[in-house]
Amino acid sequence: MQVRIIRKFAVATDICVFELVSPDGSVLPPFTAGAHIDVDLGNGMTRQYSLCNSPADRSLYRIGVLREVNSRGGSIAMHALTEGDLLEISRPKNHFPLAEAATHIVLFAGGIGVTPIMSMAEHLVRVGVSFELHYCVRDPSRAAFLSQLTEGPFADRVRLYFDNAGEQHRADFKALLRMPELGKHLYVCGPAGFIDGVSDAARSAGWDGRNVHREYFAASQPPLGTQGIFQIRLAGNGRVVDVGENETVIEALAKAGVEVLTSCEQGVCGTCLTRVLSGEPDHRDLYLTDDERSANDRFLPCCSRSKSPMLVLDL
Ligand code: FES
Repeated sequence: MQVRIIRKFAVATDICVFELVSPDGSVLPPFTAGAHIDVDLGNGMTRQYSLCNSPADRSLYRIGVLREVNSRGGSIAMHALTEGDLLEISRPKNHFPLAEAATHIVLFAGGIGVTPIMSMAEHLVRVGVSFELHYCVRDPSRAAFLSQLTEGPFADRVRLYFDNAGEQHRADFKALLRMPELGKHLYVCGPAGFIDGVSDAARSAGWDGRNVHREYFAASQPPLGTQGIFQIRLAGNGRVVDVGENETVIEALAKAGVEVLTSCEQGVCGTCLTRVLSGEPDHRDLYLTDDERSANDRFLPCCSRSKSPMLVLDL
């Protein structure tokens, strides 16, 4: 669907917010807290951005974009856009939904990972569910949405932590997560290292894995390894494709003329999810749950490889 950038403004160092509206002024398709949209940036680049406004507001979609100089170009292309520009986006999708039966929600945001957390906080305060929000950034200049967080309707639930301000200003994940409860759910979003730190603290405090929900914004390191070669068989036509040790399955398939839709290319977003009909994938993504990985019936070919000599894919 097409949207127009009605407003673009800075909310922190290197972070811009874009407000997107329907070009004809009509209401936008509904979304739930934690949802994201795919943005088509042209040149084959698609990037995913979480919606950070209240799901109750159907007049616009608000996204926050961190300009990353070392990125593959998506955030730089986004920051070059201006008010009035038209964009092609997907309808909202949600891989990070709030648990409806939760009695208390603990929200943890690291850096730009605050974007879906803002939407969640807006929703939770509106529907009256108990929650707390912990937001960790390097320093105050990098904290997005500060006035909304410190002066808005849920300011009393928010705690801010600044890594560069010394030990006493950093979040103590273990202390904050020391009391798991049946109806308590944890939502954490941010860089991989941050998510792993929060998740490890929750695990050692005894949180049930089903109550811990994570959304990665980027892998901490390139997932491509240098493991041995293997083969892919395409179930549709029986064709066999070799995957070299320094190429991804996606790249090998592309060479053979088979295109698989991708977005993050880091095993984070799930766009390239592909059914595996036989063989054992070597999962290297951050998207599938442990149970989904064990099933071995789907994998993310942008980053994952194969433990068996051949994988048969539903392509
Ligand atoms: Fe995002 Fe593969 S393209 S997980």
